[in-house]
Amino acid sequence: MDREGFLRDVDEILDTRIFTNLGPFAAKLEATVCSYLNVKHAFAVSNASVGLAMMLRALELRAGGEVILPAYTFIATAHAVIECGLKPIFCDCDPESHLIGVKEVSACFSPNTVAVLAVNLWGLACDVEGLRSFAEENHISLLYDSAHSFGARAPCGTFLGNFGEAEVFSMHATKLFNSFEGGLITTNSDLIAKRLAPMRNFGITGQDQVSCWGSNYKLSEVHAAFALRQLCNIEKLVDLYKENAKTYTKLLEEHCVPGIRNWNESFLSHEGCTHAYVCFEIQQNFPLTRDEVIARLRDNNVFAKRYFFPGLHKCQPYARRLKDLKIPVTEKLCEEVLVLPTGSTVKESDIERVVDLLKKFSKSSPSINKHVNGNTEHEISVDFSHLQEKISYLRDLKCKYEDLTASCERDLSFLEGRLTRISLSRGGDRL
Ligand SMILES: Cc1ncc(COP(=O)(O)O)c(C=O)c1O
Repeated sequence: MDREGFLRDVDEILDTRIFTNLGPFAAKLEATVCSYLNVKHAFAVSNASVGLAMMLRALELRAGGEVILPAYTFIATAHAVIECGLKPIFCDCDPESHLIGVKEVSACFSPNTVAVLAVNLWGLACDVEGLRSFAEENHISLLYDSAHSFGARAPCGTFLGNFGEAEVFSMHATKLFNSFEGGLITTNSDLIAKRLAPMRNFGITGQDQVSCWGSNYKLSEVHAAFALRQLCNIEKLVDLYKENAKTYTKLLEEHCVPGIRNWNESFLSHEGCTHAYVCFEIQQNFPLTRDEVIARLRDNNVFAKRYFFPGLHKCQPYARRLKDLKIPVTEKLCEEVLVLPTGSTVKESDIERVVDLLKKFSKSSPSINKHVNGNTEHEISVDFSHLQEKISYLRDLKCKYEDLTASCERDLSFLEGRLTRISLSRGGDRL
């Protein structure tokens, strides 16, 4: 990141006193994104969450129509659907890629379906050709939440941003390409672009002229300037993230740690994948659960995260309606996915340390599973507050919503059983 260059931009903004309202930096950002992605229109907005809602509104879909989307995504994807008066229908995802495809979407299709909102997770493109044919054959709209995936390309080589009727990228601080906070909507449709343009500025189309609904979704000049500085280096950034994914893969292979699936390994040969996230699955045959691994990594100052626990179908306001939903792959990923540190500040030596820790955990003190098998030789030194947190969340849910009682009780008895087993194996300590 060119810090001096960015500080010069801030000086210029302070000198010109053009702080916002689609000024020169925002305009340049949009033009640069269009030429980089080779897409006709780009709109800089304040974040991807509002971008998703704007994109859905711009399609003018039938009110109350069903939109198929994955349950394995960030909550913003679903919230945007209900914000626009549409009904989210959660589908399962593919166990290898974690993405949705024609198989998963077809299983949820109904005469009420008006759109598919697919998510290009982790810097990887969905089956864009298959989804395009499916949407065309069934006369429904196709949109993409590409929040994770700026700079990624489909197998045909075309950059994401060019697929479906429109796509949204996030420029949140956690993303490979970021502007502190921010979002981008891209489309090749002149009609959708015409609807989007005034929507981010209160529907204003001229002096004293308001032509449609809109709100304040603009990106400020400082945010746009920061994004532009990053865009100059985007290829370097993508290469750096890919290198990190390769290093994790190489070291894991050398150490041969059983019970860990490395998502990135399957897509290293996919030129278009940015590997913006380093995503592992901690499987059943690993001695510790995923949450125990996270706790132990945090004890060692490694900030690993689970994603997107507990799954959108288990979050309010969706959970009440969906208590019988069967989406086994999503359920499994919510329990097993572990996202590890990557990015421009992560060095090879950091990755070595993380892999060494995983290797150590794979041979370390007995886990809950081992306790279940009767081996109680060693002390468990992990933090179980996440189990207690989950239990109090479920107790709360059970009290609030009668119709969730049965499913909450089932989950509670499983979790409480786990805690009791651990407690017994530690000689009845309170955990
Ligand atoms: C898949 C997905 N969609 C949407 C969003 C929302 O992005 P933003 O924070 O820019 O609103 C995120 C944020 O991380 C995300 O992961």
